[in-house]
Amino acid sequence: MPTSLHTQLDEAAAAVRAKSSITPRVGLILGSGLGPLADSLEDAAALPYSDVPHMPLPKVAGHAGHLYLGTLAGVPVACLRGRVHIYEGHSMERAVFGARLLARLGCFAVLVTNAAGGVRTSYRPGTLMLIADHLNLMGDNPLVGPNDDAVGPRFPDMTRAYDPRLSALARDAAAAVGVRLEEGVYAAMRGPSYETPAEIRMLRTLGADAVGMSTVPEVIALRHSGVRVAAVSCITNMAAGMTLSLLDHADVESTAKQARATFTSLMAKWVETIGAASWSK
Ligand code: HPA
Repeated sequence: MPTSLHTQLDEAAAAVRAKSSITPRVGLILGSGLGPLADSLEDAAALPYSDVPHMPLPKVAGHAGHLYLGTLAGVPVACLRGRVHIYEGHSMERAVFGARLLARLGCFAVLVTNAAGGVRTSYRPGTLMLIADHLNLMGDNPLVGPNDDAVGPRFPDMTRAYDPRLSALARDAAAAVGVRLEEGVYAAMRGPSYETPAEIRMLRTLGADAVGMSTVPEVIALRHSGVRVAAVSCITNMAAGMTLSLLDHADVESTAKQARATFTSLMAKWVETIGAASWSK
């Protein structure tokens, strides 16, 4: 008989706890090119995903798979460096295993990050965007299938998927470190081909400000588990058809690399302000 999700998460959490005594409060999911934030953790233990039972393994270059436990700005955190994407052929349910593991390890809040294409014309490569809301255009949902009522409700509310308080603290943190933080709607596409210029015009008409191939499955699964979520996109390129250049994953990585210092200072300050605030859970 296949082991239940519940048991799989217990086995994975036990393997992680055997490596570090840190009980994380805040989880971080690091997007393409943003993984080096994990190098800023103190007292860090890093486990290859292959050492975590049931953890799906990412295959894209630039998505090394390690789970880190450590402290960031004095706050105990768990950090996923490298994520699996739907376009690799993982089911949505498998793809969100790591996010659910963060919840199981004790994180009451998870900050999700990604590299994204800029759809709003005023954005530029290097713009950081707080995700205010999303459009799930992936044609799937990680909660499809039997619902485990012990994890969360059959029909989870998504009205405030992106936690207003965490988002307010992101604005405070950005102001404190002098980083400009835009705010907008993230459209999730399945990929792996980038969008066509016509699709980008469609997304803009639909209200999207940025486009990417991740984040939404994790956000849905985390909200289902009752975890507070907030997310930041690093705009690594203008979306298809908005400039004369063609899209290239190497440019996505190199812009993320250039934005790294700003991104790291924002994230560290944000985690610090979250750690200093009082939360009911
Ligand atoms: N489209 C989709 N995903 C992306 C992009 C893009 O332009 N840039 C980085 N991830």
